[in-house]
Amino acid sequence: MAAQSPCPGALIRPARLEDAPAIYALLATFSTEGKLLPRPVAEIQTRIANFLVVELNGAIAACGALRDFGNNLNEIRSLAVRRDLAGQGIGSRLVKALLKKAMERTGGEHGHVFALTYRVAFFQRLGFRIIDKYTFPPKIWSDCCVCPKKDHCDETAVVIDVPVPAELLKED
Ligand SMILES: CC(C)(COP(=O)(O)OP(=O)(O)OC[C@H]1O[C@@H](n2cnc3c(N)ncnc32)[C@H](O)[C@@H]1OP(=O)(O)O)[C@@H](O)C(=O)NCCC(=O)NCCS
Repeated sequence: MAAQSPCPGALIRPARLEDAPAIYALLATFSTEGKLLPRPVAEIQTRIANFLVVELNGAIAACGALRDFGNNLNEIRSLAVRRDLAGQGIGSRLVKALLKKAMERTGGEHGHVFALTYRVAFFQRLGFRIIDKYTFPPKIWSDCCVCPKKDHCDETAVVIDVPVPAELLKED
């Protein structure tokens, strides 16, 4: 279901297959700087059901994906907000929407949502806590073979328990 985001006219909605090129282009603006993992369009298309996007004036303004590792463990990944729209609360709204998506997947059971990030304070403000990244099962590293930093990962792992308390999901 679509939800209003704080940027007037912007809408959070599930991604559609035809959004894949725009998602790719948005992610590329950050992956070329090493801030996100690069993802080919074909892979985005294959995993399009994992993505939510923020649409603004008919264009993709932000995106984020939720990868399911089973056992109620999900990862927020490929989270990106267009630079000219940063700092307006769109990223926070998108994370909250992804957490709600995770809660739909886990169906009220206890689980975890994690992220590997350089934006630790951003996630902490949303209720995540820092965790030792090597406590996660080895399968979460399956994508790292394409990462230029695979032998010296300097991202921080953050995690939040689901179900997430309602007050953390409230819109600002
Ligand atoms: C990280 C990222 C997704 C954040 O998106 P965003 O839309 O700027 O996020 P928000 O606006 O919700 O929050 C950003 C900051 O603005 C502040 N902010 C939020 N709403 C605000 C508002 N209405 N007015 C003013 N400031 C606001 C927040 O306090 C926050 O500060 P913090 O990061 O120190 O906690 C975005 O910067 C991005 O795409 N970065 C590059 C890719 C990346 O690092 N992704 C994360 C990988 S896991």
